[in-house]
Amino acid sequence: MSISRKVTVRTLLEKKQAGEKIVAVTAYDYPTALLVDEAGVDFVLVGDSVANVVLGYETTLPVTMEEMRHHVRAVRRGIKRALLVADMPFLSYQTSVAQAIENAGLFLKDGAEAVKVEGGTPPILHIVRALVEVGIPVMGHLGFTPQWLHQFGGVRVQGRRGDEAKMLVDMAQALQEAGCFAIVLELVPEEVAAVITERLSIPTIGIGAGAQCDGQILVLHDLIGMSPGWSPRHAKRYAEVGELIRQCVATYAQEVRDGKFPTREHATHMTPEELERLRQLLRGEGS
Ligand code: KIV
Repeated sequence: MSISRKVTVRTLLEKKQAGEKIVAVTAYDYPTALLVDEAGVDFVLVGDSVANVVLGYETTLPVTMEEMRHHVRAVRRGIKRALLVADMPFLSYQTSVAQAIENAGLFLKDGAEAVKVEGGTPPILHIVRALVEVGIPVMGHLGFTPQWLHQFGGVRVQGRRGDEAKMLVDMAQALQEAGCFAIVLELVPEEVAAVITERLSIPTIGIGAGAQCDGQILVLHDLIGMSPGWSPRHAKRYAEVGELIRQCVATYAQEVRDGKFPTREHATHMTPEELERLRQLLRGEGS
C-alpha cells in the first residue's frame, strides 16, 4: 500500500485485510504533527493523554473539550496524510447521546476525521451507535481505559483472568457490531489481544497489548523520551529528547552568562555610513 496516499478509516481496514501493520502515535501540537506525519504514521491521535504529558495534570480526567479542541486544531494544521483522530475527553460523551453528537461534531468541524471513546458497556455502545448513525467514525478503546481509572482502582492490566478476558472479547465484538472502525487495546495480556484481533474484522491497535494486534500506538512523549517522570513498561524510548532539551538550554544559559552568545553572526548591523549619520544626529549636527 502506497505510503503517500491519504489515510482514511477505510485504509485501516484494508491494511488489516492485507496483513499490513498499522502505525499510530499521539500528537498535541503543530510542530510535532508535521514531524509525525512526515515520518509516515497511518493515524495520529490527539489523545486525552495531553492532560498528563503536556498540561501537567495527574490523570486524564480534568482535560476539557475546550482544551482538547485547541490541540486538535493545532494538530490539524500540521497533518496532510495521516488520519486524524480526536479523543473524546471525560464527560464529553457519557452524559447523553445529544451531548456526544454535539462534541464529536465539534471535533469534526475542527478537522478531526474520527473520534475515540473509552469502554464497551451498554451505555457506551448506545453512544457509539448514535455517533456512527450520524456519520461520525468512532474508534473504540478497551482494556485499561484511563478515564475509568478510579473504577479499576489504579493503572492495571485488564483481562488477566479468563472471565475478565471473556468480557473484553465480548465488548470488542459488541463495539464492532455498534459500528467502530477500529479498537485500541490498552494494557491487556498479549493472548487476549490475539484472540480479539483474530475474531474481529476491524483492526485492533495495541498499546501494552503485545505484538499480535493489527497495529500499535504509543504516546509520542514516551517514545521520544520526553515524558515527565517515569515511562510505562510497554513504551520503548527511541531517544532521550528530554535530556537533549535540558542540555541545549543549559548550554545556552551558560553561553549567555559567559558572553559567548549572541555572536556577530546572530545580530544585524548598520552600514558604517548609517552609523556615522546616527552619531551626527545624536551630536545635533544633522537635520
Ligand atoms: O490518550 C491517549 O494517548 C490514548 C492512547 C494511549 C491510546 O488514549
